[in-house]
Amino acid sequence: MELARLLRERGIETAVYSIEAVDSAKSDLLINQSDLVGFGYPVYGSDLPQPMKDFIEDLSPIQSKPAFVYCTQWLWSGDGARTGASFLRPKGFKTFWGEHFLMPNNVTVSVIRLPYTNDRSKLETVLARAGTRLRRFAAKVVAGRPFRRGFDPVSYLLGCVQRVPFRRVYRRPVFFARCRKRALRRTIWPLSWKTSSPSPPATAW
Ligand SMILES: Cc1cc2nc3c(=O)[nH]c(=O)nc-3n(C[C@H](O)[C@H](O)[C@H](O)COP(=O)(O)O)c2cc1C
Repeated sequence: MELARLLRERGIETAVYSIEAVDSAKSDLLINQSDLVGFGYPVYGSDLPQPMKDFIEDLSPIQSKPAFVYCTQWLWSGDGARTGASFLRPKGFKTFWGEHFLMPNNVTVSVIRLPYTNDRSKLETVLARAGTRLRRFAAKVVAGRPFRRGFDPVSYLLGCVQRVPFRRVYRRPVFFARCRKRALRRTIWPLSWKTSSPSPPATAW
């Protein structure tokens, strides 16, 4: 939102959409109508969140569309923006700008006690730094001056240190979640199974 405001302020007509709010047909239409497309997401294990990967996968390929990619992160990702660009490249996007923005931690899982606060005065420093970086990023996009943080081989290798084990651990829940979604969509449950059978019927697909 803030980036959109900065781009508008500098004369670039900008609209922002949540990927949850647009289907693939609408996304394709919006992308075709735009000269430049930006993609933003929070980094999860130096990687894209699954909904963002699914969103990109569903896009129709296009001819050489300029793009910028940014990610938010708590501490460090190595190549969080480059990873997004690597998903976009096969779809025809050319990522000229990539940036990382450090944000306050919002992970509050009781087993992993990461430093968390909602105290605005304590968050100000982090947010002010992110604001400065955001303004510089917007200026580079408007000036057409390519800038890609974390697109070098060292950042890639550092990103892999987190991404490779994260994907390994994550693959199982994704697999089961997808199977469950499929099963729920495709299974026809006889209304009487609860009374006539002690267990649910086998899934048919
Ligand atoms: C599952 C998970 C994995 C995460 N992995 C990373 C990471 O690798 N590096 C990092 O700096 N932050 C990581 N974070 C923190 C998020 O990137 C951070 O909370 C988010 O970008 C904050 O932006 P938001 O306020 O827009 O959600 C992770 C958070 C979650 C929930």
